[in-house]
Amino acid sequence: MSGYEIGLVGLGTMGANLARNLAENGARVALFDPAPGTAARLGAELGSKGTATDSLARLCAELSAPRTVFLMVPAGEAVDQSIAELLPLLSPGDAIIDGGNSLYTDTERRVAACAPRGVDFMGFGLSGGSEGARRGPSIMAGGGGAVGRMAPLFRAIAAKAEGEACFAHVGPGGAGHFVKMLHNGIEYALMQLIAEAYQIMQGMLGMSAREMLPVFHGWAAGDQGGFLIECAARVLATDDPETGKPLIDLIEDRAGQKGTGKWAANATLDYGVAAPTLAEAVHARCLTALRPERIAAQQALGNPVTRYPGDRQAILADLGDALLASNISVHAQGFATIAAAAAEKNWPIDLGAVARIWRGGCIIRSRLLNKIASAYARDGKLANLLRDPDIWSLVSTRDAAWRRVAIAAISHGTPAPAFQSALAYAGAYRTGRLWANMIDGQRDLFGAHGFGRIDRPGRHHADWASS
Ligand code: 6PG
Repeated sequence: MSGYEIGLVGLGTMGANLARNLAENGARVALFDPAPGTAARLGAELGSKGTATDSLARLCAELSAPRTVFLMVPAGEAVDQSIAELLPLLSPGDAIIDGGNSLYTDTERRVAACAPRGVDFMGFGLSGGSEGARRGPSIMAGGGGAVGRMAPLFRAIAAKAEGEACFAHVGPGGAGHFVKMLHNGIEYALMQLIAEAYQIMQGMLGMSAREMLPVFHGWAAGDQGGFLIECAARVLATDDPETGKPLIDLIEDRAGQKGTGKWAANATLDYGVAAPTLAEAVHARCLTALRPERIAAQQALGNPVTRYPGDRQAILADLGDALLASNISVHAQGFATIAAAAAEKNWPIDLGAVARIWRGGCIIRSRLLNKIASAYARDGKLANLLRDPDIWSLVSTRDAAWRRVAIAAISHGTPAPAFQSALAYAGAYRTGRLWANMIDGQRDLFGAHGFGRIDRPGRHHADWASS
């Protein structure tokens, strides 16, 4: 029996769960995976909703026209190989969707490669991990006209937040994967902030994992509650079954990374957007990778961490405030990057829609995103999230606490680069006269690069003093 609505290629944990989700939402799915037996097993599980195939040609033959093939293969080579095999099998009007974490410039190249064949290549950013794929991911769809015909199905499988599907057609070409990349850039920064809060509690305040747990539960229940804070609380609550010790105390302090955070940081530089905390989070992971070197350096150079002598409850309250203010600063940086890319690429990205589809299903989902969505609903053209009065009042009422935490971390030798860069961003963004007069003065002195003046138009050079 042919007439399947969607072909799914790549049935790893994510792909298989997506197939289950699609089938549960009424779609009939043709399945293919290069590993022998994988498609057959899932096909048997899905019954009349799924059919296993043993080649891409058989998969395409099972699909109703116009055909849609959804790739859930690893980003990179495997996507290009799949496209090369699929293109001769597809007809004008058919579509290929890439649901992996592909680099958005690769997606743009693939869109251009498929276009002459009349095949619509679409890059969909999917967030939420394997559980999200099964129960409802957040879907950042990029691509052309074929997105429209697929939208009802993808709305059905997406997570729901406040009764709305976490699916949006964010723009053409690489827009979907660009937005997903920035989701991950924000994810890296939020995770780094949580990790620094943990380090402050552990080193500067001498707290055990057990003692930290109620603090995290309090944050999870408040304004900044969200999936990542809940994950952190679950990590703190877990004991190693063999030793009975908190597992966190046994995990090596060396963070992995697969590259999307670095791509996001690169993109902020490519578009000339200040997003220091997104970059800081990547640098911080790189520092963790130097574990043996750090251990040797501590032995050779000593470590400056000292205990905080003040009121623990008071500084913990400040820490919660600093975390929320920093989270807002990070979102402001991420949304500013999306806005800048959208303007340069002519992508009609609706920032309010991005905030809304990030409220459910994705890794960075949090209560704060409701407030961010409301800010963009009030003014879709906000120059910066910090300019929204409600968002700014969340920050300004925490400004003093934010500074107290940054100062305490510095004074007591605890590195907190993300907290400090998030604070510096918010400070620099609202400084009307910044340091650049000194930079351009130096540039003109040593390189005759010229400078603008505040009291007259045009470019100028100076005859700089010789002493
Ligand atoms: C998601 C996640 C997902 C993945 C990250 C992890 O949105 O579902 O972001 O894409 O967990 O890519 O990235 P690192 O391995 O680089 O931390």
